[in-house]
Amino acid sequence: MNSKPIEQLDHFLMATYRPAEVRFVRGEGTYLFDETGKRYLDFLSGIAVCSLGHAHPAIADALCEQARTLLHVSNLYRNELAPRLAYELDLLIGGGTTEVGGRVFFANSGAEANEAAIKLARAWGGPSKYVVVSTVGSFHGRTLATLHATGQVEKHRPFQPLPEGFRHVAYDDLEALEIRLHDSDVAAVLVEAVQGEAGVIQPSAGYLRGVRKLCDEHGVLLIVDEIQTGLGRTGSWFAFQHEGIVPDIVTVAKALGNGVPIGACWAKPEVAAAFQPGYHGSTFGGQPLAAAAALATLKVMRDEVVTERAVRRGEQLKRQLKDIPGVKDVRGKGLLLAAVLEEGISSTTVADAALKEGLVINAVASEAIRLAPPLLVSEDEVDQACRILTKVLSSISSSDGSVAEELDSGSEQRLSWSERGPGQLPLESGTAGREEIISEETSD
Ligand SMILES: Cc1ncc(COP(=O)(O)O)c(C=O)c1O
Repeated sequence: MNSKPIEQLDHFLMATYRPAEVRFVRGEGTYLFDETGKRYLDFLSGIAVCSLGHAHPAIADALCEQARTLLHVSNLYRNELAPRLAYELDLLIGGGTTEVGGRVFFANSGAEANEAAIKLARAWGGPSKYVVVSTVGSFHGRTLATLHATGQVEKHRPFQPLPEGFRHVAYDDLEALEIRLHDSDVAAVLVEAVQGEAGVIQPSAGYLRGVRKLCDEHGVLLIVDEIQTGLGRTGSWFAFQHEGIVPDIVTVAKALGNGVPIGACWAKPEVAAAFQPGYHGSTFGGQPLAAAAALATLKVMRDEVVTERAVRRGEQLKRQLKDIPGVKDVRGKGLLLAAVLEEGISSTTVADAALKEGLVINAVASEAIRLAPPLLVSEDEVDQACRILTKVLSSISSSDGSVAEELDSGSEQRLSWSERGPGQLPLESGTAGREEIISEETSD
């Protein structure tokens, strides 16, 4: 192996990102550690990916066991894990039943899951009904088709001409959508339940229900992109479930493998039937290693009742964020939140200062920082993060540029995975908390 200092090797990477200076080398639970051993509270989870935190033993065990058994065979052959995972996803998307009987295509990322959804909609609609209508500000990926579906023109510019067949309407605007749906060439509407990358923009209650109704009236498919919002993040398995609807196509990725790359495109059976053998594929899609990670992830998510944790910790985080001087408002649902900063406070300055103080968050918009901690985050960890943000914001407001107080490490309250053991999370953040949650709810 090359022994050059790592800093001298960075330029071998294409300059597609602007990474922070910090280099993480290890993670455990809600914590990340850099090369110097400094500890960081991770309130971003690799952008809503590591919902079970870092180095979760159940995921690590599943990966090790699968790596020793079978990594990959290609889709020329069946494997034992992909159909099991498809069944689990169908069950979750169906709200606990497989009555809808959806079918799943496995990919390796969110963009690929959406690419599959777009191709499926085109195969379903035929040559005269191929347009995908998506929303302004949306983010659906970086492949050419998903980039065009992404409603951000500045991201399109360097890559013109983009594939045709994409139109955009304002988000959270049913009238604008209805006008667009009069075009007879529209095959599908592609929409996020919450616009994550746009700054955690939550539409009005009833919006998705309205989109569903319009799609039904116009004979158009509804594709809900749950890549950032899915798998418990907003407090239900999928964010569309808050609205009591079932889309025709659902795309999932990010949290599905808790850090192992995997994406999925689920579709109702009558829609999925438009894909015939040879229409679409992926060498790695549904391979045993990624499927094993996803199956283990879903099992832990169910055992740890992550949906209820997201509701409970989300409410705590939202409440505490709102009380921080310098925070004007808090957007989002569950554990996908954005703190909107008072005018004149730059989100990048706050995110950079927070990182220095050991808190990982991101400047999702110029006026807002995004917080998406692991769904297993504890009450104490939420307190710690809010203490750090309070100090960061007060130091920025008093503009001396440095955070005065040493941060409370909170380490006494924290148990390592080995101390916790799988399924042994402390009361406040473990399954044992479920009884408490239920009794609180029923006493309301
Ligand atoms: C809503 C949404 N869709 C699609 C994607 C693209 O996923 P990926 O980066 O895995 O291709 C993202 C990524 O942030 C996303 O948030």
